[in-house]
Amino acid sequence: MPDFLTQARALLGPSHVLTTELAAYATDWRGKFSGAPLAVCRPADTAQVAALVKLCAACGLSLVPQGGNTSMCGGATPDDSGQQVVISLSRLNRVLEISPLNNTMTVEAGCILQNLQHLAAEHDRLFPLSLGAEGSCQIGGNIATNAGGVQVLRYGNTRDLVLGLEVVLADGQVLNLLKALRKDNTGYDLKHLFIGAEGTLGIITAAVLKLFPAPRAKAVAFAAFQTPQQALELLGLMRGAMGDRFTAFELMSDASVKLVQQYFPASPALFGQSHPWHVVMQASDGGAQAALDQAFETALESALERGIIDDVLLASSETQARELWMVRENISEAQQLDGANIKHDIAVPVSSVPAFIDEVLPLLQAAYPGVRPMIYGHLGDGNLHFNVSRPAGMSTPDWQAETDRVNVIVLDVVARMQGSFSAEHGLGQLKNHEMALYKTPLEIDLMRRLKNALDPKGLMNPGKLLPN
Ligand code: FAD
Ligand code: MLT
Ligand code: ZN
Repeated sequence: MPDFLTQARALLGPSHVLTTELAAYATDWRGKFSGAPLAVCRPADTAQVAALVKLCAACGLSLVPQGGNTSMCGGATPDDSGQQVVISLSRLNRVLEISPLNNTMTVEAGCILQNLQHLAAEHDRLFPLSLGAEGSCQIGGNIATNAGGVQVLRYGNTRDLVLGLEVVLADGQVLNLLKALRKDNTGYDLKHLFIGAEGTLGIITAAVLKLFPAPRAKAVAFAAFQTPQQALELLGLMRGAMGDRFTAFELMSDASVKLVQQYFPASPALFGQSHPWHVVMQASDGGAQAALDQAFETALESALERGIIDDVLLASSETQARELWMVRENISEAQQLDGANIKHDIAVPVSSVPAFIDEVLPLLQAAYPGVRPMIYGHLGDGNLHFNVSRPAGMSTPDWQAETDRVNVIVLDVVARMQGSFSAEHGLGQLKNHEMALYKTPLEIDLMRRLKNALDPKGLMNPGKLLPN
């Protein structure tokens, strides 16, 4: 067997093969998983990624692709065998082409999402993928997880935003699918195999992404109401009034808003009194601000008149809009600061969200009196982060020990409603075992056959996505 470290250093340069101070690469964002990689390698380009993958294969070492390491499921965290190589894509951060006429940009996988949003804006275009981790997650990681975020309602998941891909396969071959085409029916659309595959089938090194016209006008509001059913009615009313101009609709329980106010005291003042539920919503378009404001405000007035909402705050400036959005964006961080919580990232049909909440809450309260559900998420997509914080008085380890039981309570209802136990975060090593419970044997068998065909030695991010 070739000496991996010697050869990797010769290939990448000694400073790009790290064997000490690896904590930032070896632990996940939530601090739930940590591993002990043999090394962290930082290739500079696709050719180096391909050579490194060949070297890993020759040495019989498995590898873990890593982007911004913001996975919620330990997807980019190596195991503790000391035999895995983390391949960090951070140095693949070049923009290869931006074409406002074709409405596309071709970028390397390690580009930070927020930088791509800014780049699109500089060219008077919109790249609509938007999520709380956008300042550190990478487009390669977004594609590998088929990330969702807050604008799926209007623009779709990451899968809908990708036109082409370049992928290094498990044997080190480079699959170049970097086409900027809107139409191409020439056989199986191979790029889709790698989108959402969490690095288990290949390493994404570049992508062609869709751009959209830059919005000229934007309206943001924060509304308060009594029941999730009213949120659904508001969603219908706003979409009816605004059509495609309605881009985001995010639900928050009062408990999750209060948690943000507790941990982020600079959060904006909201309403004079408590309300059980809130949404932050956004509309945007390419027309005049006054026309958008008028349609948005008329729709909200109608919601107030019909008693669908109790109260509403309209952002009167970009600063205020950002502050209102931060209440939503800071929930994950506030939950981290608050300690252990059992996280769910579920989807049910949008119309079933109220029934889902009504069914699960009493089951949880009966099993764990005093439990603190923190419910928020992308209601417009039927995707809730149904997180469950420990009852007051219960220790963190005792609460963590209840994870499987809490999961069964929540996820069995999801399954009965034909839902998904992981809507946008993927499976990683946190939820892969739930495949066996909630996917059919045929689905798992087909996935294993694909995995074996593309990665027969099982070297690409083993222990993630598929059940062990
Ligand atoms: P990593 O965490 O580094 O990796 C994620 C997975 O992709 C791993 O399996 C890894 O092996 C694989 N991978 C990474 N790069 C590549 C590559 N180039 N080729 C092949 N495989 C690769 N997610 C949402 O969907 N919606 C949200 O609203 C959202 N909000 C978030 C808010 C916060 C505060 C945080 C911390 C996370 C949030 N996430 C959200 C989760 C996370 O940001 C996304 O999953 C994101 O897409 C991961 O990108 P990353 O670059 O950090 O990937
Ligand atoms: C979000 O929507 O804020 C994220 O997906 C992260 C989370 O689950 O908290
Ligand atoms: Zn989310």
